Amino acid sequence: TERTLVLIKPDGVARNLTGAILARIEAKGYSLVELKKVDATRELLEQHYEEHVGKPFYEPLVEFMLSGPVVAAIFEGHRVIEGFRSLAGTTDPTTAAPGTIRGDFGRDWGLKVQQNLVHGSDSTDSADREIKIWFQ
Ligand code: GTP
Ligand code: MG
Repeated sequence: TERTLVLIKPDGVARNLTGAILARIEAKGYSLVELKKVDATRELLEQHYEEHVGKPFYEPLVEFMLSGPVVAAIFEGHRVIEGFRSLAGTTDPTTAAPGTIRGDFGRDWGLKVQQNLVHGSDSTDSADREIKIWFQ
């Protein structure tokens, strides 16, 4: 069955939302496979965000992801990639729909990068790639 990589970004961990976020994913019916708290490195983030290298938000994004611990998880279930991204809501937390993780817990703080609490893989190829990066 399908797997996805979920990251609770430093804003989510710092705001003590880890449990609330994981609870929503479990309540939706997806199963936790692996879970750990990680201090990301620049090297790891360079691999994770390789598609964004060179974009204006890339450097602020990496700095943000290095600003505190991250929680990395693998969740499993039929169509979990699409299902988690639906739970997460759209990228901009100000306009993400209420009822989603980003819509309920996030907003724009006027910083250089969007602090939007979570990451989820966007395809089976990126899930495979990202799971290898974060879980060796
Ligand atoms: P992830 O699940 O984190 O990958 O989010 P996403 O797939 O909704 O967004 P995307 O992969 O396009 O971008 C990765 C991250 O970069 C986002 O989650 C934001 O934190 C940040 N980001 C993306 N686009 C912008 C942007 O236009 N401006 C700013 N400031 N930050 C952005
Ligand atoms: Mg993405």
